Amino acid sequence: MKRNSHLAHLSPNYLFLEIQKKKKAFLEAHPEAKLISLSIGDTSEPLLPSIANALSNYSKALSTEQGYSGYGSEEGTKQLRTKIAETLYQNTMHNTITPDEIFISDGAKCDIGRWQLLFGTDITIGLIDPCYPVYSDGSAILGVKNVVRMPLNAANNFFPDLKRADLIYFCSPNNPTGSVATKEQLTQLVHFAKQNRSILLFDAAYASYIQDSNLPKSIYEIEGAKEVAIEVGSFSKMAGFSGVRLGWSVVPKELTYECGYKIKEDFKRIITTIFNGASNIAQMGAITALESYSELQKQIQLYLKNAVLLKQALLRCGYRVDGGEHAPYLWVSQKERSSVDLFNHFLEKYHIVTTPGNGFGVYGEGYVRFSSFGSKKLIEEAAQRLSVTYPSSPPFSSS
Ligand code: MLT
Repeated sequence: MKRNSHLAHLSPNYLFLEIQKKKKAFLEAHPEAKLISLSIGDTSEPLLPSIANALSNYSKALSTEQGYSGYGSEEGTKQLRTKIAETLYQNTMHNTITPDEIFISDGAKCDIGRWQLLFGTDITIGLIDPCYPVYSDGSAILGVKNVVRMPLNAANNFFPDLKRADLIYFCSPNNPTGSVATKEQLTQLVHFAKQNRSILLFDAAYASYIQDSNLPKSIYEIEGAKEVAIEVGSFSKMAGFSGVRLGWSVVPKELTYECGYKIKEDFKRIITTIFNGASNIAQMGAITALESYSELQKQIQLYLKNAVLLKQALLRCGYRVDGGEHAPYLWVSQKERSSVDLFNHFLEKYHIVTTPGNGFGVYGEGYVRFSSFGSKKLIEEAAQRLSVTYPSSPPFSSS
């Protein structure tokens, strides 16, 4: 059997596995080190008890004749889809999102992979670079060759100079830079997509971190977006579901191919063929999560306060820090240092693991990403380490 040449072109490991390997090697060389990992963006706070109860009650009922259920609807339960539409899409005054436009999934990452199947190989994709590696790696696995990169940097105030592509991936709040697009910028994006007949793949996985009502949480807050955009959402960072797994996609009725066929119909075809719908247990948990939306905001506030603490400590040390205000990520740079140099610097000097910015794309070179996920105690310790200048090895390594 010949190896799939598209896979052979990828780096052997997904970005965060590569960092795990580096972390392991460092610990082998320095077994006394107490590393603080601020690399992968993974939630640390326990589930709300009400959510855990909903998951466990539904699981227990599955062992009874009355409570057992097998396959559900591939799009997800009507109850959850209605709840998402009512709770998360009330501000989309120009665009009403209805439950039949919402498809429940096992997470945003998996749905992005399924979106890629929708459009196939023979297309141009627009990547805002740096970006979540799934956009580029996922497309590369399918064999997409035409990639247009749009740099995102401090010089353009973290909004790219838009270039034409059939599909444009856009993430706000942005992973990895932590920047958030304004209403004016998203309006420009939607107009651009309309004029150029592009489709926007809008990743709103971090929308619940937006604390300013003037900043859009959904692309559908922008007039006309239903004609050009698909949106993905996630319970991972909103409700601590990174392990439970649950997300959704919105595929509007208005969105069609040039032949007029509704894209939504093809998306349904894909999920009914290669995905049988999300776990019914997780869906019950998600309904409770949406009913507890204000409680969830307390956890989000904690991660955002962590971001402030880290940002202050890093700024005091003289680094340039972007992001971290409506997002759990900080985008950190210093003079002419490369990503690898900065990554090694934080690892060796402070025993803090970050993510090298060049892992998110060529234009991420010169940066590292700090994640603000972690307990208050952990982040306080990281900030404390950063506040102390150590001449040689950190003295905290064996504590
Ligand atoms: C991140 O850290 O960027 C993501 O949350 C991890 C992932 O989904 O790959």
